[in-house]
Amino acid sequence: MRREIVHAGSGQLRYMIREIVEFARHVQELGREIVWENIGDPVRKGEAPPQWMKDVVRELAAEDLAYAYSDTPGEMETRRFLAARANERLAGITGPTVDTDDIVFFNGLGDAVNKVYGLLRPQARIIGPSPAYSTHSSAEAAHSGYEHLTYRLDPERGWLPDLEEIERTVRYNPSIAGILIINPDNPTGVVYPPEILEGFVEIARRYDLFLICDETYAHIVYGGATETHLNQVIGDVPGMAMRSISKEVPWPGARCGWIEVYNRTSDPQFATYIESIVASKRLEVCSTTLPQQAIPRIMGDQRYEDYLAARNAQYEARAREASEAFAGTSGVRLHTPQGGFFATAAFDELPPDGEIPIDDPAIRHLVEEKVADADPDARFVYYLLGATGICVVPLSGFCCDVPGFRMTLLENDDATRRWTFNRIAAAVAEYRRSSGATAQAVSDQEIATSGVAG
Ligand SMILES: Cc1ncc(COP(=O)(O)O)c(C=O)c1O
Repeated sequence: MRREIVHAGSGQLRYMIREIVEFARHVQELGREIVWENIGDPVRKGEAPPQWMKDVVRELAAEDLAYAYSDTPGEMETRRFLAARANERLAGITGPTVDTDDIVFFNGLGDAVNKVYGLLRPQARIIGPSPAYSTHSSAEAAHSGYEHLTYRLDPERGWLPDLEEIERTVRYNPSIAGILIINPDNPTGVVYPPEILEGFVEIARRYDLFLICDETYAHIVYGGATETHLNQVIGDVPGMAMRSISKEVPWPGARCGWIEVYNRTSDPQFATYIESIVASKRLEVCSTTLPQQAIPRIMGDQRYEDYLAARNAQYEARAREASEAFAGTSGVRLHTPQGGFFATAAFDELPPDGEIPIDDPAIRHLVEEKVADADPDARFVYYLLGATGICVVPLSGFCCDVPGFRMTLLENDDATRRWTFNRIAAAVAEYRRSSGATAQAVSDQEIATSGVAG
C-alpha cells in the first residue's frame, strides 16, 4: 500500500469467545462431538422464547410500519415506555430523571459499544474490570491504540473490586475519563452490592469522571443478590447504562440495545460527547425497527415479570449445580454466580505442563500443536476440548492474569448440563494429577469422579 492503512488499534480487536470456535471446528471435523460452552446465546442452547412473545413478533410483522425506518434515536413510543420505567426505579430515591431524548437505540450493544468508545478522544481512557468482557475491552483498546486499562476483580473476594486500588489508579492516571462497570458481570457472574456501586459513583464524582454501566443482565439476578441499577445510585454524576433485549427476552438475533443517559447536561463536554454519539447514529439513519416496537408489548405484558422470575429461579438452580460440581475439586475455585449466564472458575495453582488423555491420535496431535505457545489456562482449555469436546473460554482471553475459564449456565438439557459441569471438574483433577507439580494435591476421590462423569 502507498500509505499505511492499518489503524494503530487494529491488533487489539480480539474476541476469544469466537476465536476458540475456529479451533473447536477443527476438533469437530476430526469426529469429536462439541459441547458449546463458549457463547452466551440461550436460544442456541435450547431455550425457546415463550409462545406469547412469538405472537407479539408475528403480529408486528403483519404491520407495514414494522418495515419502515425508525427515528434515529429509536421509536418514540418505546423510548417513552423505557424512560417511564427508568423513572419508576427511582421511587423514593433521588436520581436523574430520564427523558425520551436520553434513550438512544443501537443495533445491539455491540454497536453501542463501538460508538461509545469510538467517539471518545483517543487520549481519554475508560478503565474497566478484569476479567474484561471482550467487546468492551477490545473497543476501548482499539480506540486508544493501547492495551485496555483495567481494575482487578478479585476471585478471593467473590470477584468484587478493591475500590481503594481503583481510586489510586484513577488518581495517578489523568488520562482516565470514565469507569466501566458491568453489573451483573460477564464473565464472573458477580452482582455488585449497592455500596460498591456507590463507591464507584463517589470516585467518579471526586475525579470528575463519567460512568458507563453495562446492565445487559440487570434483570437476570438470583441467589439473594440485590438488583441495583446505575440510575438508583448515580445522583448528579454523568453516566449511562447500556441495556439490551439479547439476554433478557431473550432475542440476541434482534440486534437491539440502547443507552440510557443520566445527567447529560450536568457537564458541557459530556453533553457534546452524547450528541456526537447520536450524530453518528444519524449517519446510519437508525437501528432495527421491529424489535424496538416489540419492547413495550413484551416488557409491558402482565406475564413478563413472572417470566423473568421463573428464569431467574432456573439460573439460580444451575449456578448451584455448577458450584456443587466443583466443590470437591482442589486447586480451582468457582464462586457461585448470582447474575447473568456465566460461571467462572479461577485456578489457585495451574501446572504449566498438565495434560488430559486424548484417545484419538489426530485430535491429540492437533491439541499438542496448539498448546505449544498457549497461555497456561488456554492450554487447559485446549486439552479439555480435545479430550471431552467441551468448549469453554480461557480467562486469559478476557484481559486477565488470573488463570481460569468461563462456562455457561445455559445448557437446557438437564443431563447434558450436569454431565458437562462434572466432566469439567473431573478434567481439572486429571490435568493437575498429570503434572509432577500438583499431582500430590489431587485426591483419589477427585479422579474417581472422572470415571463417573465418563
Ligand atoms: C456484558 C455484555 N454486554 C454486551 C453484550 C452484547 O450484547 P448485544 O447482543 O446487545 O450486542 C453482551 C453479550 O454477550 C454482554 O455479555
